[in-house]
Amino acid sequence: MKKILTKNGFNQKDIVSFGNMFLLANGRYGYRGTLEEFDKTDMVGLNVLGLYDRYQDKWRESINLPNPLHYIPCFNGKEYKIDENNYINHHLKLDIFKATLSRYSEYDNLIISSKRFLSSVNKNLLVHRYILKAKEDGQYKIFFNVDTDIYEINGPHFRKKELKYDNGFFIFTGKTNEGKIVKTYTKYVSNETIIINKNQCYVSKRLQKGHEICVFTYSYIALGDEDAVNEINNAIVTGFEELEMEHSLNFEKKWETARVEIDDEEAQFELDYSLYHLLILEDKESYHSIPARGLSGQTYKGAVFWDTEAFILPFFTLSNPSFARNLLMYRINTLKGAKKKARSFNYQGAFYAWESQDDGTEQCSKYNVTDPITNEPLRTYFDEKQIHISADIVIAFDRYINFTGDYSILLDGGINVIYECVKFYISRATFRNNQYHFDDVMGPDEYHDGVNDNAFTNYSIYQSMNILIKYYQYTNTIKNPISLKKIKKFKDLIYLPKPNKKGIIEQFDGYFKMKDIHPEEVKNMRKNDKEYLGFIASKTKTIKQADVISLLVMLPELGFDKYFKANYDYYLPYTEHGSSLSSSMYSIMASKIDDNDVSYRLFRKSSGIDLGTDQKMYAGGIYIGGTHPASNAGAYLSVIFGFLGMRLNDDKISFDIHLPKQIKNIKFKFYLKGRLYRAYIKDDTLVYEEDDNL
Ligand code: BGC
Repeated sequence: MKKILTKNGFNQKDIVSFGNMFLLANGRYGYRGTLEEFDKTDMVGLNVLGLYDRYQDKWRESINLPNPLHYIPCFNGKEYKIDENNYINHHLKLDIFKATLSRYSEYDNLIISSKRFLSSVNKNLLVHRYILKAKEDGQYKIFFNVDTDIYEINGPHFRKKELKYDNGFFIFTGKTNEGKIVKTYTKYVSNETIIINKNQCYVSKRLQKGHEICVFTYSYIALGDEDAVNEINNAIVTGFEELEMEHSLNFEKKWETARVEIDDEEAQFELDYSLYHLLILEDKESYHSIPARGLSGQTYKGAVFWDTEAFILPFFTLSNPSFARNLLMYRINTLKGAKKKARSFNYQGAFYAWESQDDGTEQCSKYNVTDPITNEPLRTYFDEKQIHISADIVIAFDRYINFTGDYSILLDGGINVIYECVKFYISRATFRNNQYHFDDVMGPDEYHDGVNDNAFTNYSIYQSMNILIKYYQYTNTIKNPISLKKIKKFKDLIYLPKPNKKGIIEQFDGYFKMKDIHPEEVKNMRKNDKEYLGFIASKTKTIKQADVISLLVMLPELGFDKYFKANYDYYLPYTEHGSSLSSSMYSIMASKIDDNDVSYRLFRKSSGIDLGTDQKMYAGGIYIGGTHPASNAGAYLSVIFGFLGMRLNDDKISFDIHLPKQIKNIKFKFYLKGRLYRAYIKDDTLVYEEDDNL
């Protein structure tokens, strides 16, 4: 079984994608997979979950911290920084089951090997070992320091920063523009004498061939009043190997309920790798949610999108329900922000943000895309028109409750979220021709904004109302709630676009009349390959991502099964898959209608996304690179809800297997109503039995 992602050689152009590919994280911090000699120009990043800052009038984004792992080796006065021509051997190895990253670089005169991890046990601890081995006799040096020249997209975020050396510790104190104090403590440990000069350290030694210098870094991030000095001293006493063991064993445990086994070696590794990217985002003590680019940096402002509820949550609900609960708690805790957003548009209830940060207020700017040629900000409407987010959240609560049986989340504020979202929709609707319509919206397909009656949106709203009706008894904690009768009446009057004679649901009112142009042609119409496609595609049938298909996949209870094929055949050729959220939806639908080559191909597209080096890095002129947790989760969904056809109907779980030819066997575990099950295929059916090893 392949456990390690290895990349041999060094290529300047891959620095950014390798930074994402070799990312380490522990649900609280992320450290990009960059090399020790790199600096901010190489996008080195120690990214923090849930701590945001705004500099002047720039976008508010998650913050990066100084880099304590900045090392440069030296032989006879010559410094070594990797480039395409100066190494003999170079590789990076990411152990995805242990969440550790190793580096090996052999040059003419010396070899560097290092290993690092962000502890999954003591979450504020970053630990690193750096070894220089002499290839010949001579004078060797290693320079190292805490690099406070931070890589930031919309910074600088520290209005004050100070690095001082105190009694063996490098203490960084930063005050963000919003006044938050962040401290990091770093101690370097070596058997050799460490010389310190103005916050720069070095070890210098004459080495004989084959001999080594080793330096350890123990760095602790203190966002509160933790006793960092003590934590580091304890860590040093425990030692690198022991800490690594503790961390790895703890991380390996996360796999026990998460792993999905498939008998397809290459796909298995990609799927494992995808789950790695989700497991590194888990933190049972965190009530923040998962940003769209995980902890790989500041892209998308470090904000949380519907990606979490629609894609990531099902994975955690099945594999780690208590963390799934935390993710939903985030929406409960940020309800105030969603209400504020609704009020700002003169609506009632809760209008959840397209881009949500710590307090749930909308962080999406009105100009979220720039012209790649002129650098002009361009007007966008993601925040104003994507009203479906609130419904996605309501539906996520219901799914979670159905799978876990955990009604207590309603009492912990879940019912308020559901109620306020419904209230928002009631205030947002337009009454016309005796029906309620939702005009001027944007569905998941972001290339068409300002449309009326997007099917995904209307049906999701309808479903949210059904959910509120189902849990209505819990509204007794709400003062003067809208009556059940009124909600039922409203719901029955929502305009729901029906399949046409051919069985196709029109994506929005007027979609069928759009110019019949396919994605490739639309792409050819661009003047610059970074140009934002939305402005061209908006007048055509080309869509960015699954929209009607997402509706059919996410709301199987609508009973549209007999129309699956017609919609799939119709919309697939128009879909650009310009969002990484698209492939998994089509993969699941392809499974349902037995288009197994496509289901497999699109599953691999989702699972392999972060293993490539040619991802979409720009939307207009804006850098959007990073990891793709929703796509990683989409790979899982493609297997469980696509190949295995898992469905929960009235508390009964069922499976409808449609395997692609490459896969004959699938095994996985899942939680249902507090019990853990082990599932596998036997004689073409899915068997599941309670797992006693809990
Ligand atoms: C997609 C959205 C998604 C966002 C964050 C956009 O490109 O169109 O659906 O929520 O990225 O992943």
